[in-house]
Amino acid sequence: MEKQSTQYLEMINEALAGIKYPQTPESLYAPVSYELSLGGKRIRPVLTLMACELFGGDLQQALKPAMGIEIFHNFTLLHDDVMDHADMRRNKPTVHKVWDENHAILSGDAMQILATQYVAQVAPRLLPQVLETFLKTAIEICEGQQLDMDFETRNDVTANEYLNMIRLKTAVLLGCALKTGAIIAGAPVAQAASLYRFGENLGMAFQLQDDYLDVYGDPAVFGKKIGGDILNDKKTYLLIEALQQAQGDDLALLNRYVGNSDVAPEEKIEAITGVYNRTGTDKRCMEKMETYYRAALSCMDEILVPEDRKLPLLALASEMMKRDH
Ligand code: IPE
Ligand code: IPE
Ligand code: MG
Ligand code: MG
Ligand code: MG
Repeated sequence: MEKQSTQYLEMINEALAGIKYPQTPESLYAPVSYELSLGGKRIRPVLTLMACELFGGDLQQALKPAMGIEIFHNFTLLHDDVMDHADMRRNKPTVHKVWDENHAILSGDAMQILATQYVAQVAPRLLPQVLETFLKTAIEICEGQQLDMDFETRNDVTANEYLNMIRLKTAVLLGCALKTGAIIAGAPVAQAASLYRFGENLGMAFQLQDDYLDVYGDPAVFGKKIGGDILNDKKTYLLIEALQQAQGDDLALLNRYVGNSDVAPEEKIEAITGVYNRTGTDKRCMEKMETYYRAALSCMDEILVPEDRKLPLLALASEMMKRDH
């Protein structure tokens, strides 16, 4: 019988909890340990382990790179929360709130390096391929994050620009996590590429959903403050579609509030959410998410292993689409 998602999760959590950080400087490593102990869904490293098993590889060989990918993800969150002025993550105050921005910067830097050290712990003959995949992804995430920031001050961002931005900041890391597991298992190049595209499409759906939850999530469950994207003038699919669809009073509301930080936060969130509701962009966002989920599933059809081996990944993907946090 195939392993349950929780078994992979336990393996990752145990490995991460077992990391021994140097004693000094305590103020460099305490934020690292804090961020990594806050929980999180651990989706990316679980994907790496599942991808390895999908192609009949040895899970132990994939564990260190899987940890590295999760450490890298957590690094991006440290810096992302500074950039997005976010006070809460996983229901806890963010690193730059518990410490300060300088700690978030440098501890984040250390996490990137730590991440690379873990990712590089593969058989020497696999190292070039694993590192190339990881480093290409890492730089793409920086590109995506910068586009995300650039878009805050633009009001003419198109849906395609948005989709490319989320591909870079989010989707490629899911692709990378899966491809890494496939490489370690010795999967044929074309099969690893199909699995990468499965992850990329899943990642697109995942970020569309993240943007949806940023508006419609339950703050106690979501673990982040609701409305942060609206307050930052993020050009999410919701906002881009609303700018396209809104007319009359609704368009006037968007024009008044988007780009305006001189209004009460609650008022801005309420006004813009109202426009989303009336223009039905919430539904359009969910439809777009479904489209990417289906595209992911069709990439899985290209994977030439017995169907039952695909079950853990398919179950995880399906659970991800129903998430509330
Ligand atoms: C948050 O990722 C950042 C995005 C790419 C949306 P997750 O939702 O996977 O965050 P954790 O690790 O589970 O907290
Ligand atoms: C996150 O996008 C992407 C990365 C961290 C690379 P968001 O800014 O939407 O992520 P959250 O919502 O803060 O988790
Ligand atoms: Mg961000
Ligand atoms: Mg953010
Ligand atoms: Mg978000």
